[in-house]
Amino acid sequence: TLTQAEKATVIAIWGKIAAQADALGTESLERLFSSFPQTKTYFPHFDLSQGSAQLHDHGSKVLGAIGEAVKNIDNITGALATLSELHAYILRVDPVNFKLLSHCILCSVAAHFPNDFTPEVHAAWDKFLSKISSVLTEKYR
Ligand code: HEM
Repeated sequence: TLTQAEKATVIAIWGKIAAQADALGTESLERLFSSFPQTKTYFPHFDLSQGSAQLHDHGSKVLGAIGEAVKNIDNITGALATLSELHAYILRVDPVNFKLLSHCILCSVAAHFPNDFTPEVHAAWDKFLSKISSVLTEKYR
């Protein structure tokens, strides 16, 4: 569980992230697919080449969901309930992949906001993304 201070830290930098959400989402997916190409197997129906419209749309959706989690930071489970069912029952994404995507999101945030990405921000975002991942994978078993 995130402490009050960690929640405040996550919320504080979200304003900056939100202003570049589409670019950050797209970059996070580009990092995921180039560093961890096995993750591409979940997207056989996508054009995953750099700059593709599908990559951009999907990046925007992923960051949109993270925005919902920020807005509902005291009830992330409720806010992401539908997405949790989608990933577990329909998409059946192996939970290991959530760590990989979370890592790529963190890298994108660090690359875009180097001055804001203090060890404290890093740790709070890492915990927040791991909470989102556990919500999205908790229906598996
Ligand atoms: C779909 C969010 C992790 C694979 C989606 C959608 C959202 C989303 C918002 C669109 C749902 C809709 O259209 O109703 C997230 C978030 C994640 C995450 C917030 C973790 C931070 C992953 C991971 C994978 C994955 C790790 C696999 C490597 C997919 C696939 C779709 C999808 C295959 C369907 C794409 C399509 O056909 O349009 N996700 N996701 N997701 N996600 Fe995730």
